[in-house]
Amino acid sequence: MTRKINIFDTTLRDGEQSPGASMNTEEKLVIAQQLLRMNVDVIEAGFPISSPGDFRSVQEIGRLAGDDAVVVGLTRAVDKDIDRAAEALKTAKRPRIHTGLGVSPQHLQEKLRITEDECIERAIHCVKYAKKYVDDVEFYAEDAGRADQKFLERVIQAAVDAGATVVNIPDTTGYQMPDDFGARIKGLCDNVRGIENVTISVHTHNDLGMATALALAGVKNGATQIECTINGLGERAGNTALEEVVMAIKMHGDELDAHTGIVTQELTRASHLVSRITGMNVQANKAIVGSNAFAHSSGIHQDGVLKARDTYEILDPADVGAAGSEIILSARSGHAALKHRLAELGYTFPDNEFDEIYQRFLEIADQKKEVYDEDLESM
Ligand code: KIV
Ligand code: ZN
Repeated sequence: MTRKINIFDTTLRDGEQSPGASMNTEEKLVIAQQLLRMNVDVIEAGFPISSPGDFRSVQEIGRLAGDDAVVVGLTRAVDKDIDRAAEALKTAKRPRIHTGLGVSPQHLQEKLRITEDECIERAIHCVKYAKKYVDDVEFYAEDAGRADQKFLERVIQAAVDAGATVVNIPDTTGYQMPDDFGARIKGLCDNVRGIENVTISVHTHNDLGMATALALAGVKNGATQIECTINGLGERAGNTALEEVVMAIKMHGDELDAHTGIVTQELTRASHLVSRITGMNVQANKAIVGSNAFAHSSGIHQDGVLKARDTYEILDPADVGAAGSEIILSARSGHAALKHRLAELGYTFPDNEFDEIYQRFLEIADQKKEVYDEDLESM
């Protein structure tokens, strides 16, 4: 049996930090219901101290999730944040406080203006303080991707010794190359005493378009939790897309020694729902859930797919809840695609007439981006 990878969804927290994507409590509850339907393991419901609305969202989602998922409230390494998160999480059956601070030189010197030793003291304090309220405490080492590895190991050692149950290693700025990020996770596994008793989580951003690759490199090297969002929403270029990591793990589970418990047939519905609620469109060519993810436009591809779907499709659309493969008729389509669509519409022609039909089709196609059934009917 491969390792179970926990899917920690942060659409309602990091995803909501996408400019323009803020959601009210009712909207967050609708998405949380879909996350539960998909069987995510962990829902990060908000940042309770940030606003009364976020506080209420964490409360309500805690109530909604019951035993079905861990519900998380984010905090800074600040006592009053932790007090507020603990208060909001009282409704949750499986509450988790997610606390931590920056660990890179940029964060220590420029943002926090503290020394490495002070950072370690704060890490120990926030974990111990959160442990007074809940057993399940996740420590995040913000900007771990740009931290000194030896210092990162010291901070994580301190968090583990202080009682963290999960240690989150974020590449906050999406800076690393996948191999280097994987080596970081391996370094932690090799050098932090007792890390085998806690969950290692990866939280990667998409600034260089590599969030999914980074998360999978983390999994390959020992992480068993991935933090991700529907449609890859999140700060700046976004977070790891849930649908991408889940399907990559499904496809490459053996080599990654990994599986998830996600109901993949719900992925497209989740994507549409989040897009509708946040008003953030999904790019047509987005992996897994984009409207072109299973659409074939060129004659060569259409011919291949019509002969055998797997010539150009590695995923079955039904596995992600998509409507099905689509053949787009355009000026790039060949005889096979046109013949196929006409036959579906109930028209068949002898070969000697078909060439003329195809020429008429090309004339229309040259004038339009896409040829629809109505155009074929009028032809
Ligand atoms: O990107 C990041 O480092 C975060 C932390 C708060 C976990 O979102
Ligand atoms: Zn983040």
